[in-house]
Amino acid sequence: MGMEFSRRMVLKSLAAGTALAGFGINAAAQVSTFDSYAGAQQKPWTLGWRSAPAPDLATPDMKLIFGSTPKGLAGTFYRNGPAMFERDGLRVNHWFDGDGMVHAYHIGDSKVSHTGRMVRTSKYLREEKTGRFLVSGLGTKIENPVPITGPDDVNVANTSVLPIGGELLALWEGGSAYRLDDTTLETIGTKTWAPELKGMPFSAHPKVDVDGTVWNFGQDFFNNRIIIYKISPKGKLVGMKLLKNVPGGMIHDFCMTKKHLVFVAPSFRVTRRGDTILDMFEWLPNKNQRVIVVEKDNLDNRREYDLPPGFQFHYGNAWEDKFGDIRFSVCMGGSGFIENGARALMRGETPNINPSRLAHVVLRKTGAAQIESILDERATHEFPQFNANYQGQNSRYLYTVGDSSHAHPSQPSMLKHDLKTGAISAHNYGAHEIVEEHLFIARPGGVREDDGWLIGTSLNLKTKTTRLNVLDAAHLEDGPLAVFELPYALPLGFHGAWAGKT
Ligand SMILES: [Fe+2]
Repeated sequence: MGMEFSRRMVLKSLAAGTALAGFGINAAAQVSTFDSYAGAQQKPWTLGWRSAPAPDLATPDMKLIFGSTPKGLAGTFYRNGPAMFERDGLRVNHWFDGDGMVHAYHIGDSKVSHTGRMVRTSKYLREEKTGRFLVSGLGTKIENPVPITGPDDVNVANTSVLPIGGELLALWEGGSAYRLDDTTLETIGTKTWAPELKGMPFSAHPKVDVDGTVWNFGQDFFNNRIIIYKISPKGKLVGMKLLKNVPGGMIHDFCMTKKHLVFVAPSFRVTRRGDTILDMFEWLPNKNQRVIVVEKDNLDNRREYDLPPGFQFHYGNAWEDKFGDIRFSVCMGGSGFIENGARALMRGETPNINPSRLAHVVLRKTGAAQIESILDERATHEFPQFNANYQGQNSRYLYTVGDSSHAHPSQPSMLKHDLKTGAISAHNYGAHEIVEEHLFIARPGGVREDDGWLIGTSLNLKTKTTRLNVLDAAHLEDGPLAVFELPYALPLGFHGAWAGKT
């Protein structure tokens, strides 16, 4: 295991970033309370970007408003997302800067309970104590910030979750994972994989092999490198590798075949100084994306490709075909959402950005790479999911949140893509429902790839409540099998994970 990627190096990089943060005078007043924004009152969808009703939430028995829990579905559905946006009359001006709240929906015996807790990060605890925001975030500059000593001082732990080793990890992408009790969701502290890795970035999209091995990465975009983590099914670090010369484009996610890890450095690169981390990135419309492929069994074995300019948050599955070519699915777009869209939402404005498209990419063994197809149908596609038992294999079905709505700036449908025939089936929740990521849960003992359920939350703007929906993945066009309702509205979140009852 190479250990060159020292904590000191990360601190140095981050210090460089914060030293730069004193420059522009774009300052202040970027933040204010939500209700001060014109239009926020008249737009029901803004409910999705208000703070959670309380830092700790509990509903022991969610109201069943439709159907019944399918037989065989038992376990815990975890989710994470930004949930605290305002302090002392100031509002963060980028969605990704809200402090994280983790949710657990325990499903079993025809009953569903909900627990939600703010992750007690060191940032959250310090700010609770003083009653104001103390540090700038990814896209929000705070006036008179306190000095920071490392990435975890600004860690909001708000992006995803990973149940592993008897705990639940709350994930961000710029710093450590946070350890939580997987039942009570109480925060235990930061996760240190090895003493020399304390405070290292651990991204929010780990990939789990069919044998339970977890792969993830952390990015140091200031110094053009990433660190790769290999973790045993029980949660022990069993390998790591520093990859140098990875261009400093914002890498949010990656994809994985049986044999390879695939990283794409997009055309959204660190090029300049800025008030916030995000301001240091620039969209370079003529800059190709750089693809880096490494072999899982020999991380020194690396090959590279170019792809046309682009940016993406999320990948579907990836696999090697019989020729040794690597193929993967990706929700590809530009940097409009992270640069402008996620800020517009916080102001109660509908983002004016290009939608992300579902694209299929091939990396030829011969060295050529191309985007083979881009789906123009059904507008935006995001939050791609597939049957985890097919990780790294040629899977037929991909599930996305999609379609566009005139009623709100998010998507109202769950879509199922048959990648063999190109057919798309869908369930549209309706104009008054904002749909969040749905996970595919394989039916225990199931044989077909789509034998299972899609589980996900949605925000109903009429009832002003969050719902938990269960769809039959083989027949999602028939609508939900079960819908449970919370007595409150949760702010919209990002990603989830499933822990089945064994
Ligand atoms: Fe993500």
